[in-house]
Amino acid sequence: MYIPTLIFSLLAFASSPILAAPANQIVSGAEVTGTTCLDKTAALDTHSTNVAILSICGGIAGSIQKCGGAPASTIGQSGTSKFELKALQAGATINISKGRWERCVKAAQLTCPTGTFTSTCVGGATVGDVGFSLTEV
Ligand SMILES: *[C@@H]1O[C@H](CO)[C@@H](O)[C@H](O)[C@H]1NC(C)=O
Repeated sequence: MYIPTLIFSLLAFASSPILAAPANQIVSGAEVTGTTCLDKTAALDTHSTNVAILSICGGIAGSIQKCGGAPASTIGQSGTSKFELKALQAGATINISKGRWERCVKAAQLTCPTGTFTSTCVGGATVGDVGFSLTEV
């Protein structure tokens, strides 16, 4: 195989949208409330965090557009990046679209651009909001 072609193919694979960072979501910050930074020095790997984002609810990567299974809580983990989500209102279940979830993480990262945090995603449950955290495991 022609080597430059091979290299180009590898680069194209590495930047494939399957594992790429969430689309450049435009967020205002109003998507979340009560964001609290925990450890701003936690050395989370960005790629692992992006994979963890898509690992909630048993996986929402690719063509899956929302959290399936209506859980009351869920975990999305990859490497040392761990998201924990919980419907805050008693009896509620998580009913969040991938877009809303990605926007909530981005919005929390406006306040806490590095490291770990807790926050509340406005809406995203059958009733009320979804509390979530990003921690290092
Ligand atoms: C879940 O959210 C969708 C909109 O994304 C809505 O149409 C549906 O009624 C919701 N389901 C429940 C059980 O709240």
